[in-house]
Order: sequence, then C-alpha cells, then structure tokens
Amino acid sequence: MTKPSLWIPRRLSDATMARALRDYHVITNPDDTPGTAAEIIAMSAQVDAMLPCHSELFSPAVVAQLDGRLKIIANHSVGIDHCNLPALAERGIFVTNTPDVLSDATAEIAMLLMLGAARHAVAGDRLVRTGAWTSWSPSFMVGKQVTGARLGIIGMGRVGQAFAKKARGFDMEIHYYNRSPLTDAQAMGAVYHSDIDSLLAVSDFLSLHCPATPDTKGLLNKDRLSKMPKGAVIVNTARGALIVEEDLIAVLQSGHIAAAGLDCFQIEPGGNPVLAAFETVFTLPHIGSATTQTRDAMGFRALDNLDSFFAGQKPHDLC
Ligand code: DGY
Repeated sequence: MTKPSLWIPRRLSDATMARALRDYHVITNPDDTPGTAAEIIAMSAQVDAMLPCHSELFSPAVVAQLDGRLKIIANHSVGIDHCNLPALAERGIFVTNTPDVLSDATAEIAMLLMLGAARHAVAGDRLVRTGAWTSWSPSFMVGKQVTGARLGIIGMGRVGQAFAKKARGFDMEIHYYNRSPLTDAQAMGAVYHSDIDSLLAVSDFLSLHCPATPDTKGLLNKDRLSKMPKGAVIVNTARGALIVEEDLIAVLQSGHIAAAGLDCFQIEPGGNPVLAAFETVFTLPHIGSATTQTRDAMGFRALDNLDSFFAGQKPHDLC
C-alpha cells in the first residue's frame, strides 16, 4: 500500500521523525523555520496530511486557499488557537491535538515561574552573575512565601489539575475557576469559584491554564488585575493572548502586582521588551512542554492520530 504523504514543517524529536519516516512519505523542512501562509497553501497540494506546531497559522484566509488533497492536520500541540476550526470544518479537514501528554511538563514550568517570580530569581541571578553581589542583610531580596499561600487557577483542565497537584506539595490552598466544577475526586479539596472575580479576590498567586479563544482573549485586564490582593503574583504558561500586557505592565509599575512568571506572550517569538525590563518578571520563551520525554510523547500522540485516521478510524483527539 502507498504510504500517505505528510508534511512536517518543524524539526520534531528524533524518535518522532524516525517513526514518521517509517510510516509516511514525509516532506521535512531542514531549516526548521515556521511554515508561512504561502508554504502551507503550496504544501496542501502535495500532501494528504500535515503535522504542524502552534507556529503554523491556519487562518480563514489560508484555509480558504488549501488544496482539496489535504485531509487532516494532526497538531503537535494541545493548543489549537492557531487553527480556525470553523473554517477547517467547512473545508472538511480534520484537526487533532495532543492533550494529556504535556500536562506535567507544563505544570513544572508553571511551578518554576511561580517560585522564580516569588523569590526574585531574575534579580538574584543577575546580581551574582555580574559580580554585583557585594552585601547581604536580613532585609535583602525578601520575597513572597509560596508555602501555605492561596493559589488561584483559571482553567482546571488537565494542566490546571497537574499544577494543583504539584502546588499541594507546597501546602498551597487551591481555588479555581472553571466552566463547571470538578468532581470531588478531581478537585481534591480545591475550592470552586463560579465567577472569575471571586477567584481573583482570594488569589495570592494566580496561574492561567485555559485555552485562548475569542471568549478568553484579554481575560486578565486592568479591571480584573485590580481585583487581586495587593502583592499578588501572576503566572502564565497557557497563551499570551489571555493577558492584556499593557495592563499588566501598569499594575507591575504601581506595585499592585508584585511579580509575574511568563512563558507566553502576545507576540511570539520575541516577547514583550517592556515586561522583560522588569526584574520582578521571570520570563521564558514558550518552553512549557519542552522536555525530551514530552516532546516524544507529543510527536507520538500526533502520529497516533494520523495512524487512526489513515486506518479509517476516528482519531482519538479530534478537535
Ligand atoms: C501547546 O502544545 O499548545 C504548547 O503551547 C506548545 O505548542
């Protein structure tokens, strides 16, 4: 049987590539540059399937120009905000993602960001690294204690629950907002808030774990940030679009929000130079899921979805 043709625009893990090359006729991009609109459109006439990342944008304008040969987009990401699902559905193109497999890695990065933001990781590291550490006193670099503090989580899906589990190891009191409450077994004592403002009022630390959708875009704005306790810390490992960055800058400047740990930005790659100028902001370049184990698992999950599709079955992670 002829192998289906597959375009893989980014360099995936060695194990993923080996399996893809074994089972598909693969077109790769040795430059590992994000697929442009023109490349996506041109490739759609050459392949049956694509295995893109969140760096390839399937806007309505792009989707309208896709060739009828393309049958499925098996994303190497859990986030699908780069895919216009209604436009793709109208073209009859299947879309899958990679839930579950990156929850722990992303929760680890959220923990790193929370601790780093709370305890002056950026300023402390710079001081030692630059040789500028010349004194010490009990009032030096005093941070905010995580242990026993209240943690608010917006979006208690897989990643939110994985982060809550890790935060329980720090004896944090977990509160959450979600479209619907979890079962008692899932919540494990976490307190449900049916509206975001009520959650914000009790969040000494706040971590975002919801997808970016038209409804959640700009969710954390000036009004909402002002409802948080003074000195609160914000963590974002989900999507940059969730935060109005200029509003976050304003509350960091005023001191109402003490610090932030950010892995995601409105503009990626690149981030926000104004946010990056704050030593109270611990930044990372969207690497929440970047561990060897998780990259393999994401690649395999995407390939599992393709395998099911080409075997005539319903892919497990159909969006
Ligand atoms: C995801 O899977 O959505 C991560 O942000 C990496 O793409």
